[in-house]
Amino acid sequence: MIPGSELVHEHAGYASDANRLDGFARALARAVKPGDRVLDLGAGTGLLGLLALRAGASRVYAVEATRLVELTRRVFAANGFADRVVVIRGHSLGVSLPEPVDVVVADQLANFGVEAGILEDFADARARHLAPGGRLVPDRLDLWLAPVASPRAWESVALWEKRPAGLDLTPVREAAANAIQSVTLEPGELVAAPSVAASLELGAPPSSVALAAGFVARSAATVHGLGGWFSAHAAGELVVTNTPGAPAAIRRPNVFLPFREPVEVRAGEALRATGHVVPPDIFAWTCEVAGRRSVQSNLHALPLDAADLRRSDPAARPALSARGAARRHVLELCDARHTLAEIEASLVAAHGALFPTRAAAAAFIASVVERDAE
Ligand SMILES: C[S@@+](CC[C@H](N)C(=O)[O-])C[C@H]1O[C@@H](n2cnc3c(N)ncnc32)[C@H](O)[C@@H]1O
Repeated sequence: MIPGSELVHEHAGYASDANRLDGFARALARAVKPGDRVLDLGAGTGLLGLLALRAGASRVYAVEATRLVELTRRVFAANGFADRVVVIRGHSLGVSLPEPVDVVVADQLANFGVEAGILEDFADARARHLAPGGRLVPDRLDLWLAPVASPRAWESVALWEKRPAGLDLTPVREAAANAIQSVTLEPGELVAAPSVAASLELGAPPSSVALAAGFVARSAATVHGLGGWFSAHAAGELVVTNTPGAPAAIRRPNVFLPFREPVEVRAGEALRATGHVVPPDIFAWTCEVAGRRSVQSNLHALPLDAADLRRSDPAARPALSARGAARRHVLELCDARHTLAEIEASLVAAHGALFPTRAAAAAFIASVVERDAE
């Protein structure tokens, strides 16, 4: 994607999802009291902050990690709220606010609820920013699982056995059977009634999440894996969900956790799924049916090579790579005295072999400064 385009298109999806906006608008109308201060965590284009202002907030702190922030400011101004909003560029974990807030709202829910960082972000926001008696929107997440019969989702595993162009690509097959896929599941692909595999109170210190659910197959089927999705709640009411086929579902894919091999089940047969998520994005899942177990994890989706293993050895003594040394060079010159032009000249003089053009050196400096300097 061309820089900028990706962000704008991503947020077009959020802005055009009527069920998502309705769900958050109703939740904020319940949670926000007149005069409340609200943290819009991961503000994007400012939609949730605007809904909070509409619900009566007196002040919104809109925190957004990306370059969208200038657009966020303009959107609040276009709606006449420039004087009631403070837009802050930064990751929420590194941002300080001048006062506590009464409500924190965010939609870092990804496809399975937890893998975009909401457990960490809300625990931090509650500890550092939420006033006593304050509210999180959402404040509870249910993580749902169901066994899935879906040849189209399974194709991501099966294709590696098909000898494309007559080539043997089977070594990738095992990795693919451990790779989590983002897919919009159809209700007809669910082999059994879904079950809540974990129910999480948001705002608590994040820990590993245990998943456990039992199912009874509705009919005989070839099960290819588990489907997963979330429902997010606040004060006991549904805020948003991506439940397959639900009338109020938001437009967001689900996750597909494949098995190693498809499993044949009979009508009425019991299946049991267990798993672990180490937030935000390390997953392990197990399914048991008819005494057979399939155990998988996305940790196996990309096997470690010898260099990875050496790097993770506690006794290893890492040394800077050539690019690492160039990064350190730039960081040491970010001392509020050197201009970017001076840093570029110094970088090219010391590490010129790494950068074929001045533009490449300037782009490298920009990436370092954007991440670690101000
Ligand atoms: C799913 S989008 C939602 C955007 C907006 N709140 C909405 O509902 O339309 C999440 C946004 O939060 C930002 N983000 C995610 N985690 C963040 C964090 N911890 N701190 C600041 N921004 C974050 C992302 O860059 C992205 O723009």
